[in-house]
Amino acid sequence: MELMSERQLPKWSELKPLLHARPVHRHATDRRLSRALTIPDLRLAARRRVPRAVFDYTDGAAEGEISLRRARRMFQTLEFSPSVLHDVSDVDTNCVVLGRDSAVPFAFAPTGFTRLMHHEGETAVARVAERHGIPYALSTMGTTSIEAVAAAVPAARKWFQLYVWKDRAAGEELMARARGAGFEALMLTVDVPVAGNRLRDVRNGFSIPPTLTLGTVADIAAHPAWWANLLTTKPLAFASLTGWDRTIAELIDELFDPTMTMADLEWVRSCWQGPLIIKGIQSVDDARRMAEAGVDAIVLSNHGGRQLDRAPVPLSLVPEVVDTVGDRTEVWVDTGVLSGADIVAAVALGARTVLVGRAYLYGLMAGGERGVERAVGILVREMHRTMQLLGVRSASELSRRHVRLR
Ligand SMILES: Cc1cc2nc3c(=O)[nH]c(=O)nc-3n(C[C@H](O)[C@H](O)[C@H](O)COP(=O)(O)O)c2cc1C
Repeated sequence: MELMSERQLPKWSELKPLLHARPVHRHATDRRLSRALTIPDLRLAARRRVPRAVFDYTDGAAEGEISLRRARRMFQTLEFSPSVLHDVSDVDTNCVVLGRDSAVPFAFAPTGFTRLMHHEGETAVARVAERHGIPYALSTMGTTSIEAVAAAVPAARKWFQLYVWKDRAAGEELMARARGAGFEALMLTVDVPVAGNRLRDVRNGFSIPPTLTLGTVADIAAHPAWWANLLTTKPLAFASLTGWDRTIAELIDELFDPTMTMADLEWVRSCWQGPLIIKGIQSVDDARRMAEAGVDAIVLSNHGGRQLDRAPVPLSLVPEVVDTVGDRTEVWVDTGVLSGADIVAAVALGARTVLVGRAYLYGLMAGGERGVERAVGILVREMHRTMQLLGVRSASELSRRHVRLR
């Protein structure tokens, strides 16, 4: 005999509890952003908002983009090892960076030309940093001046990222201005003796500021809001140098100094008395040289895959570098971080903190300051949940037994 379930007409009292109104976002940008549940979702939203060349400049890497893919793949293939039956009702993501408490174990990486991604640029990112106690690194290639960032976010932890130019006097002036504006630390980037070959930029004919061509006119129709903002706000220009209108690779090769050696590190040391971070270390030997030179922190980084292609995956270096120099200098890492779980994994392997670059830039392109806020919300929620599922109450409890690199 065929079994049939009895049917009835639903009553209003039964339907009512099933009806849930979605939260209403009054701001159109918030409505759009609320649909992004992950950083990759924000990336897709970003791609729709900005011209192709701008998205490619941010999203792209050097040559075959193998460095970046490998870095992301390592985050995807690592395996967590959880422990159950612990009270994880409350989790604490605090960590100590450069001797000071930080609310979360990540910081905003220095990124050049930020006003290109969104007209609010560096200020929007720094405001979110200030609100959440996230350190913010301003790039030498920034589009907002040192003093303007300092005035916009007096309470934020601010680091100034320096590239050593052939013109040493200009470098000294930048360091003096950063010190005068209350920046806490100097981050010296050492992996750009020459420009990486970013093929997407070459193919797109990308330059700063963007040139008006026939293609641009078509793009204005496709991304009217971005163009309107570009053309009706303060002209887009580098804050630390004037009169530039060629490609980024030309700029780097003309300005940056490929003769730089350890002697220049001593010169930087003599100009900057505060904490010194060296960004772009890619081997245990170089980490040792930096520790011997007495730097306060090193960032294991291949510049988000934007310089040497097929470079070491920074995450894979963390355990050995921490074992070698971790008692003398802080070891930080970046490249390829797209989720809060990635940050948890890096900290568990021994990184003191993690720099995120594109993760916040996707948010910025997708919705300005609100988009950066969304990116931080996503990363923090993912970090919390991952720690809870690992059975960990505090970031200081994370250790190598929680992660296996495969
Ligand atoms: C658009 C863009 C611009 C960048 N500009 C700089 C810069 O001016 N100085 C610097 O030291 N690093 C720069 N970087 C590298 C970042 O600081 C960081 O190392 C990298 O973004 C980390 O990788 P992720 O984007 O996968 O998080 C830039 C990265 C991007 C994506």
